[in-house]
Amino acid sequence: MDIAVVGAGSLGSLLGGLLAREHDVTLVGREPHVGRVRERGLRVTGVESFCVEPAAATEVPDAADLALVAVKSYDTAGAAAALADCALDACLSVQNGLGNEATLADALDCPVLAGTCTYGARLTEPGTVAYTGRGEVALGASEGGPSQVAERVGAALDAAGVVTTVAEDMPTRLWGKLAVNAAVNATTALARVENGALADGPAREVAHDAARETARVARERGVDLADERAVALVESVVADTAANRSSMLQDVADGRRTEVDAINGYVADAAESPVPVNETLARLVRAWERGVSSGG
Ligand code: PAF
Repeated sequence: MDIAVVGAGSLGSLLGGLLAREHDVTLVGREPHVGRVRERGLRVTGVESFCVEPAAATEVPDAADLALVAVKSYDTAGAAAALADCALDACLSVQNGLGNEATLADALDCPVLAGTCTYGARLTEPGTVAYTGRGEVALGASEGGPSQVAERVGAALDAAGVVTTVAEDMPTRLWGKLAVNAAVNATTALARVENGALADGPAREVAHDAARETARVARERGVDLADERAVALVESVVADTAANRSSMLQDVADGRRTEVDAINGYVADAAESPVPVNETLARLVRAWERGVSSGG
């Protein structure tokens, strides 16, 4: 299968590297990373260590069987515009936050699948990605139900050794993932701690409250996600990724914009009644972002 991985950051590079063992992959990302991949291949180190030679570019190709979108949520509209001119059979978003599939579907002619991904990755230097945790990609129709396209894409990921579940309950999974991100990302970014610090430390209840609020908003929107399930998901991700620095902590450490608008901000915007923990987390992270963008 011809696969364009749009957003060759940490996660996109890891998934692209795994997929390149079986498929024709083009990594679409930024310099100097893509240039280094073109010159020397992509090095994957950690859980498994290997080198692959995918194509690598700063622009999306003219055609691909599948576009796997892994850009930051604030870049989804840009990725959608770039992909609008690419002949595609299918598109799969494995991004954090909610609303990405709708943005992509508005711009593209092909089916857009929803995905969640719990693999852990970190770009350590241009051309090299650390594979920090084996996880799972769950994918399916974003509105739920069966999908032949999802079966085909799932089989392609599976053939490359990516742990894959083709799921008919993506709305619940997307909101479950949102609850995890709402709980883990901003708390770890603000407290500057690894995910494992939420297992028993002082921020544990903040994280659990953020997850409960997210579950309540999911139910307000007709998605079946119980508070206990949301908290259990957080506990299991925290245990499985204890030594990881969340993507938002990595963004903050590198002085980059975060995905808070598509995570805690999304929960706050979608809520019918107050969600004070998510609102507070969103405001604090946005205050940090404003300080960085104004050079403070
Ligand atoms: O954004 C992240 O860092 C990840 O989605 C997760 C699951 C919270 C693990 O760090």
